[in-house]
Amino acid sequence: MQTLSTTSLQVRDNQLWILDQQALPQQKIWCPTPDVAELVGHIKALRVRGAPLIGLSASLLLALLAENGMAKPALAEALEVLRASRPTAVNLMNNLDRMKLALAQDDFVSALGAEALRLIDEDKALCDSIAAAGSALITPGSRLLTHCNTGGLATAGVGTALGVIARGWQEGSVASVWVDETRPLLQGGRLTAWELGELGVPYKLICDSMAASLMAQGQVDAIWVGADRIAANGDVANKIGTYSLAVLAKYHNVPFYVAAPHTTLDRECPNGDAIPIEQRAAREVTGAAGSFGDVQWAPEAAQVYNPAFDVTPASLISGWVLDTGVVTPQQVQAGEFQPGR
Ligand code: MRU
Repeated sequence: MQTLSTTSLQVRDNQLWILDQQALPQQKIWCPTPDVAELVGHIKALRVRGAPLIGLSASLLLALLAENGMAKPALAEALEVLRASRPTAVNLMNNLDRMKLALAQDDFVSALGAEALRLIDEDKALCDSIAAAGSALITPGSRLLTHCNTGGLATAGVGTALGVIARGWQEGSVASVWVDETRPLLQGGRLTAWELGELGVPYKLICDSMAASLMAQGQVDAIWVGADRIAANGDVANKIGTYSLAVLAKYHNVPFYVAAPHTTLDRECPNGDAIPIEQRAAREVTGAAGSFGDVQWAPEAAQVYNPAFDVTPASLISGWVLDTGVVTPQQVQAGEFQPGR
């Protein structure tokens, strides 16, 4: 396969390399990813993360395995193992459905390669379209708040919500960004802060619990988040803590926008209750681990609840900003995301 490079994925020497998102920003480590077990390990450990990126990395690996001689039945098995690596982000399943169609072709090696590269190119274009649609909604001088990481690290392009924010900054409408640190795994404090710094966008990092008082003080003009799955009724699964922000936004009359590619839409999923929510290890809450070391502050015996995502009901969302344009609450209520539309 041709050489390829995005913010967090590379193909070189006919192998997939991923940028370790657990080591950032202290260390920039590119990990070779030769097989399914390795990629599944990276995905589960969130070294590869973000709804679009998970699907793209899985697709690229399958294409490379085919090129390196893996037989069709083994590829079919590998595809299903990758599909099961994380349950919530539907982009993974959507991308793998397309790879499965390519695998069914006689000339499956070139079909898989072409499809994986097409998915990468499409994702870049989707990000650009989301940024264009979303930045038009930003009023001049806006102080925006974002949660988790939805930038170039999480996609093949400029990102989703963070792509909107970056475009708004380039166009002069964004004054500054409040970055939720995003406990427990700190995607905001580690990754979004790093990306905004690289882009030169002024930001201030806050603990998640500080968002409420900022809104009460009138210091947040809009909230922009990404999505892992959008149900047919407009409910959105995204990083844990998103729902609290949406409730706060409603109370304080702050617009709350969700930015995502259409590949995040699951028309077959009727509502948020039907979205599978990943539960994660207790140690992520009892302490923290990363390139800074490994610490534990809770008692050894502490019982923990650690869902990776929560569901924000459609009624709290001001607009769904997709690559196809902005979808309003009225359109969602009229069935815009229902099957067959
Ligand atoms: O657990 P993560 O870091 O993969 O969660 C990521 C998010 O919740 C993002 O907001 C979402 O995947 C959109 S990324 C463009």
